[in-house]
Amino acid sequence: KLLEKKRNYWGKKEKVLGKREKVLEKLGHRALGCCCKGPAPLTPGSLLAEDGDFLALDLGGTNFRVLRVRVSDNGLQKVEMESQIYEIHEDLMRGSGAQLFDHIAECLANFMEKLKIKDKKLPLGFTFSFPCHQTKLDESILVTWTKGFKSPDFDIDIVAVVNDTVGTMMTCGYDDHNCEVGLIVGTGTNACYMEEMRHIDLVEGDEGRMCINMEWGAFGDDGALNDIRTEFDHEIDMGSLNPGKQLFEKMISGMYMGELVRLILVKMAKEGLLFRGKLTSDLRTTGHFETRYVSKSDPLGLQKAHEILTKLGLEPSHEDCLATHRICQIVSTRSANLCGATLAAVLRRIKENKGVDRLRSTVGVDGSVYKKHPHFARRLHKTVRKLLPDCEIRFVRSEDGSGKGAAMVTAVAYRLAAHQEP
Ligand code: GLC
Repeated sequence: KLLEKKRNYWGKKEKVLGKREKVLEKLGHRALGCCCKGPAPLTPGSLLAEDGDFLALDLGGTNFRVLRVRVSDNGLQKVEMESQIYEIHEDLMRGSGAQLFDHIAECLANFMEKLKIKDKKLPLGFTFSFPCHQTKLDESILVTWTKGFKSPDFDIDIVAVVNDTVGTMMTCGYDDHNCEVGLIVGTGTNACYMEEMRHIDLVEGDEGRMCINMEWGAFGDDGALNDIRTEFDHEIDMGSLNPGKQLFEKMISGMYMGELVRLILVKMAKEGLLFRGKLTSDLRTTGHFETRYVSKSDPLGLQKAHEILTKLGLEPSHEDCLATHRICQIVSTRSANLCGATLAAVLRRIKENKGVDRLRSTVGVDGSVYKKHPHFARRLHKTVRKLLPDCEIRFVRSEDGSGKGAAMVTAVAYRLAAHQEP
């Protein structure tokens, strides 16, 4: 249904379409077209978009969202947006691809009805935050599901398909032209950065730069992290939907942080080190120590820890609360440090690429862990700055980058298609 709709969106501007295909193909060969040569630069700092209304879908984070993004240019380009969150039930996440896609199309229809734009044919961008083999700007083939999704038979064909890291970098780059890295620490974790074309063998040409979606959540799937993975990391992995995959992500992101704490608490209770050796069925249940508890217990300390443990049916002593608070602190600090160390490696790479003594660069960031955990961002920044004393790194929080980014890329592609010579 959605594919059909998409075809209709484009039907209206038929003249433009022929040109668009050519442009998209060119852009696509540079993945997201984030390259300084070709029909027009599509770098984070040069997002000059076509005026008008665009739709965007954002799938892959905590929520599924549908957005309408309005781009207007009265001298200064302005972007306004409205969005609606729709729930995706667990059975849909793991059901057939057709069911999931039908649901997405229904949500889109509902959104358009609410906004009274059902009769309009608007171009649509899709932030699809899963590992994909991206062949063109509007063509992306899913490599594997992550973050609790496991729908078979799913492929996508929309105007622009964008990873959330890329959307984040592009929208932050709108205001800060130094933005060359996009980072997400939320349900999952990942980053993208601007790489020199001369270092990219898969794509022809040596000039300019191109955005690379690193899919760093999969770091360690080749055994590189074996030395630092704990028994709890192994346990999380074994109980997951994708064992052996996304091992770095499982040590860091919001989808697993609470569960890591729970596994540690269970082990300590079993060994009689906590709760006088008592385990409740709540504490034994997967997912019952939520990641938001980690955010609360880490900074707020004992009182919050007491509240949370009581909710889980336990009768915690003062020492139990102290230990729980400390465990939350350790798990989230490890996450921030790992993330910071990996980000520092990426920034060092950019510095080497540029051959400068001192790198000034900006990282666009989004994600619930980064934004909601009260100490996460500070700890992450500290690690990066400690590892890169010779760099000036600025962190910019993206507001709705993952959703807005897709609409922005679509709007730019639209402009390029419209102004391309036949
Ligand atoms: C997962 C996805 C990746 C996404 C990240 C953050 O790691 O594979 O594409 O960017 O989560 O949402």
